[in-house]
Amino acid sequence: MANRITLISGTANPGLSELISNYMDKDVCDVVVDRFSDGEIHVNIKQNIRGQDVFIIQPTFPPAENILELLILIDACYRASASRITAVVPYYGYARQDRKDGPRVPISAKLIANLIETSGAHRVLAFELHAAQIQGFFDIQVDNLFATPVFLEYIVKKKFDNPVVVSPDVGGIKMGRAFAKKLGADLAIVDKRRMTPDASEVMNIIGDVDGRDIVIFDDIISTAGTITQAAEALKKEGAKRIIAVASHPVFSGNALERLEKSIIEEVVVTNSIPFSDGDKCSKVKVLDLSPLLGEAIIRIHEEKSISMLFV
Ligand code: R5P
Repeated sequence: MANRITLISGTANPGLSELISNYMDKDVCDVVVDRFSDGEIHVNIKQNIRGQDVFIIQPTFPPAENILELLILIDACYRASASRITAVVPYYGYARQDRKDGPRVPISAKLIANLIETSGAHRVLAFELHAAQIQGFFDIQVDNLFATPVFLEYIVKKKFDNPVVVSPDVGGIKMGRAFAKKLGADLAIVDKRRMTPDASEVMNIIGDVDGRDIVIFDDIISTAGTITQAAEALKKEGAKRIIAVASHPVFSGNALERLEKSIIEEVVVTNSIPFSDGDKCSKVKVLDLSPLLGEAIIRIHEEKSISMLFV
């Protein structure tokens, strides 16, 4: 692609956009995102982007305005004659409703995909989608980056004793197995039953955790119920040190207080969602995702392999 890159930042996570911009040594485009007096989002791209390869960085965690802002930014770029528009979505909100698993429920992950596509995006660059099949909800190209390179070095330095990577539910087995393989660790699984959208119960631990150090590996920490209950169950089965690793620090409700009181030694997350509540939980360690995203943007632009980032 001969045309130049334009980086556009939404207002959801400007810190991450700045880090990506630093990594790429490329300024973020001058864009005004503000509000009409009734609260509606107003966007104005201040530079000419005609014919440019545009990357719009905007994770879509709550409030829903973050999604709407992404859609409006895409529309603005489309109408400004960008030659290609990539929605860079480090956290893809509404992903957890990804199938019709009961009567009269939506598939919100598909609805959001439709909205992004209809707005005029040509591609999506995502990070750790909640379910890999969400890629197929789009009829445009999707690159879904894995978290392994972000966490691996940090976890290796911990020098765990005979570690076990634990997936806190069956949905995370594939991701957990890939991380365990890179770490040279075994895999165990928590058999969890979800009672309501925000509450779950641990049924069984599948695998040997007795006397071992544990890395619980998940994609999202929301209420922290899943991860803290898994930690309790693992402790009962004889686990030693327990740390939790998760791509997306959603931290809803009293998640941080819960994590602070828990037996989990450290909670390692990325900056896909900004975190500023260190006073509520001293255990959170945020690792920077920008080199991975920045490199992926460069590779998409230069039409180079993305899978090479994960070998
Ligand atoms: C579930 O499928 C996800 O992988 C996470 O385990 C879940 O979203 C975490 O939610 P919470 O922290 O509210 O238990």
